[in-house]
Amino acid sequence: MSDKKTFPPIEEFVQRANYKSSTENPDHLSFWEKEAQRLHWFKKWDKVLDGKVPFVRWFTGGKLNVSYNCIDRHLVSWKKNKAALIFEGEPGDERVMTYQDLYREVCKFANVLKDLNVKKGDIVTIYMPVIPEAIVAMLACTRIGAVHSVVFGGFAPHALAERVNDSKSKILVTADGYWRRGQVIRTKDNVDKALEDCPTVENVIVAKRVSNQIKMTRGRDHWYSELMDFQMGDCEPEQMDSEDTLFIKYTSGATGKPKGIVHTTGGYLTCASSTHYNVFDIKDEDVYWCAGDIEWITGHSYTVYGPLSNGSTVVIYEGAPDFPEKDRVWSIIEKYRVNIFYTSPTAIRMFMKWGDRWIANKDINSLRLLGSVGETLNPEVGEWYYKNVGKSRCPVVDTWWQTETGCIMISPLPGTTPVKFGSVGFPLPGIEADIVDDEGNSVPNGRNGYLVINDPWPAMARNVYKDTQKYIDTYWSVFENKFYTGDGAFKDEDGYFWISGRVDDVINVGGYRLGSAELESAVLTHPSVAEAAAIGMNDDVGGSAICIFVTLIEGSNPHEDLEKRISDLVVDEIGKFARPERIYFTKNLPKTRGGKIMRRLLRDVAEGRELGDTTTLLDVTVIDDLTSSGVRM
Ligand code: WT7
Repeated sequence: MSDKKTFPPIEEFVQRANYKSSTENPDHLSFWEKEAQRLHWFKKWDKVLDGKVPFVRWFTGGKLNVSYNCIDRHLVSWKKNKAALIFEGEPGDERVMTYQDLYREVCKFANVLKDLNVKKGDIVTIYMPVIPEAIVAMLACTRIGAVHSVVFGGFAPHALAERVNDSKSKILVTADGYWRRGQVIRTKDNVDKALEDCPTVENVIVAKRVSNQIKMTRGRDHWYSELMDFQMGDCEPEQMDSEDTLFIKYTSGATGKPKGIVHTTGGYLTCASSTHYNVFDIKDEDVYWCAGDIEWITGHSYTVYGPLSNGSTVVIYEGAPDFPEKDRVWSIIEKYRVNIFYTSPTAIRMFMKWGDRWIANKDINSLRLLGSVGETLNPEVGEWYYKNVGKSRCPVVDTWWQTETGCIMISPLPGTTPVKFGSVGFPLPGIEADIVDDEGNSVPNGRNGYLVINDPWPAMARNVYKDTQKYIDTYWSVFENKFYTGDGAFKDEDGYFWISGRVDDVINVGGYRLGSAELESAVLTHPSVAEAAAIGMNDDVGGSAICIFVTLIEGSNPHEDLEKRISDLVVDEIGKFARPERIYFTKNLPKTRGGKIMRRLLRDVAEGRELGDTTTLLDVTVIDDLTSSGVRM
């Protein structure tokens, strides 16, 4: 692999961003075909792209293995002894795994899975903290062609059970617990609770992280280390078809049930590898840190598959960013001489709030590139990041993408795109994004509209697990032949893309995506609640906070205790990160004549704005109810 970047110069981006229709688009296929050659293929593809949206196939006939691409092919070079993973535990313990070490662990764990009768195509649920075993488990799945479904370790038992049951997993990989702010979080207890309602699970593998007392159910639960003891350190990689499913990743949509987004092998890895290499301007000697959960699609693409396919050294950290002090992140950067740091605006806003003094005492001059993902990086926050973390010399890439897109789609390119803070720059080569009106027609620059992707790209989601209709309805029915992202956006006079946020009922809180319906169904489990509407309310530092409007059944009255009970219900059903910021009791909810709750109006109310267009409102008196219900105006 040479260090030469494959992306064209800025002029081409500007030109591309201003294309009026996809008929003018440059040859995306040859771009992606070139990028696919970065990978090792057991058998080359017959055709680059086959089929028509929404059902396309990339690199058909091609055979490859993801773990082979992420590990084996580095073993024949000097990278064999390069650090693949640098793990730092919250208590300060440290573990380095070279590519050679990773090979042995992954092969052994692949053999463990085989021994437990996991076959190609079976779904393995991984519910783990950020520890090396989580990555080993993912790669081991890919080695034998099993499909992984990594579930966020912060999810409550109910949310875990829902995802296990949708995928009908027979096996779950977990840990006894992990460290968070000096406390042990009892992961395995959550698993035990969840599995009371998961009839399909036959085996549970438990990695030991904190050595707390846990219950092991005989016949079902096995210790990771005991299973590994007997295994061989080699395992033949399965030759997977380019279009075989690589993983499913549950994410929240506008409806109550989380959707299992299906990603396939060849196209996904091509994009993850190419975008990681190019957007982060990766060099062989870099130490790279994408701070966040591995469970996040960001973790999949930019902690695991992108970086390891490029033979990078990846830092992973188990714990809280403010433990034992608020300088932990900077200490880690100083200690490992991190060169590239990728995080979310929520985290950056937090660092900003904590103040520069936590950074001032640390030597973070090894940094040379900064990235952001998950929400809009507002100009003030972006500039703070650039000045205080990047010391005014590191390019900042604000990358726009989604679980469904699999890889970064719109982003500045370091050293190429002059940055405008608040904008995500231009679509990457091979990506044809546009902004359209209600009819699906391109809007002129400066005008707001819906962000769509015109042409298929290799890492696009192929389906919603077991729900093809939902895949079609959600992404491909809003506009003909265009992928609907659910985001609003505009282009400025220079063609730069600016994201204004979700236009559907999805709430993005601290980088976690929650469906309003998911929150509402948790609240509705309370017997006194008649109706509920959840919204994301913008707070003063540009973040989003959950706000729930509740109407009670006849005879029930709001009181503080009830507020707490409802809030606890959300935590119990979904997880601590979803605790509502505010709960408002109101007599009625604003609805359209079609009965749809007008969340837009609720957002206006919660954020203290003049109410927007109320002409479609069924009953205007609800406005008085709302405004007199203790809502800040
Ligand atoms: C939604 C996707 C992709 C990894 C993390 C989130 C929002 C993402 C940006 C950005 C403004 C952004 C969008 C998108 N989003 N990146 N750079 N600027 N908004 O993945 O959970 O699938 O959420 O996150 O609203 O639709 P996700």
